[in-house]
This record gives sequence, structure tokens and C-alpha cells, in this order.
Amino acid sequence: MEADVERVLIAEDVIEKRLDAMAREIRHDFPGEVIVVIVLLKGAFVFAADLLRRLPRMLEIECLNVASYHGGTESSGEVDFLDRKLPEVRGRRVLVLDDILDTGRTLAAVVERLAGEGAAEVRTGVLLAKDRVRAVEVEADYVGFEIGDEFVIGYGLDYQGRYRNLPYIGTLRREAM
Ligand code: IMP
Ligand code: MG
Repeated sequence: MEADVERVLIAEDVIEKRLDAMAREIRHDFPGEVIVVIVLLKGAFVFAADLLRRLPRMLEIECLNVASYHGGTESSGEVDFLDRKLPEVRGRRVLVLDDILDTGRTLAAVVERLAGEGAAEVRTGVLLAKDRVRAVEVEADYVGFEIGDEFVIGYGLDYQGRYRNLPYIGTLRREAM
């Protein structure tokens, strides 16, 4: 697996330090309240696990299965909600976590959907934000790292379902694609 990595973009200890700071920011913005956290699967599970354990708040953690990439390196342009039922968010303050903000379609679709379900407020956090023109207008409230417009793997992010368990963010060798 490691042999398929072209270069390490963000090392594990760098991610960990950044998560400490992100958790402080979020804690400050949600003083003392119960937060409904919605983790977008599968990509955000590693990021969410590490971030949320740094957040000393009463959390109700939910997961939402969404798909936009369908396995390759290009966004399909469609966002599919794969769950039969959405978490109950009416009147609640919600924090949505995703791995990466790319075209913006996923985050925009989820925020719109939760707002439609009556959430009082929907905030968003992503580990990575790609520096590119978004297909839809959306930015995250909390961003771990801004990266260039290139395909990355690791720390939850996959290529065809693989590499999610790499403990850092890296790029994939061309021969592995
Ligand atoms: P968006 O809807 O285009 O913003 O894409 C969001 C989703 O696409 C993310 O949650 C990832 O699953 C996937 N994605 C976007 N860029 C990358 C990448 O560089 N590596 C792996 N997955 C990515
Ligand atoms: Mg993916």
C-alpha cells in the first residue's frame, strides 16, 4: 500500500496539531450546548474520530452515507443520499463533517437537505479544501488544510475504496491508478 504513495502531503503529526486547533475553534463556537454531529461516510470517518475525541461537548453523533465520486478520481456531478432515513435535526444546531471540499456539490447538497429538514443551524467542517473553482457556491466554516487541485488519498480518503487507512495525506503514483 505505502509503495503506491507518490509523496506525503500532510504528515500525521501535522494533522494532529491542526485537529487540536480546529477542536478549540469549534468548542468556542458551540459553548456548552449539545451538538448534533453528522459524519459523511465513508471519507470522513477517520477525521471525525480524531476530531470528535478532542471535543469535550455533549455530542449526538450521526452518520450519513452519501456518494458523489463512485470510485474514480473525477466527481460524478450527482450526490446520492444512500440512507433510508435522515437523522432528526429539526430545531437543532448541526455540525456536518466531511473529508474534503472539492466541487462543493456534496456539502452543498447535504446542507440544503438538512436545512430543509428544519435544522436551526448547519455548520460545516472539512479536513481538506481544494483550491479550485467550486461547481456550486459553498465554503466550509472549519477547514483543516487548503491543498492544491490534485487527487489525494489517506486519512479516510480513498481511491477505488482503498488507502483510507493510511495515517497521513498523500498523492497516488500514476502507475497505481
Ligand atoms: P465534492 O462533492 O466534489 O466537493 O466532493 C466531495 C467528495 O469527493 C469527498 O467527500 C470525497 O469523497 C471525494 N473526493 C474529492 N476529492 C478527492 C480526492 O482528492 N481524493 C479522494 N476523494 C476525493
Ligand atoms: Mg470517496
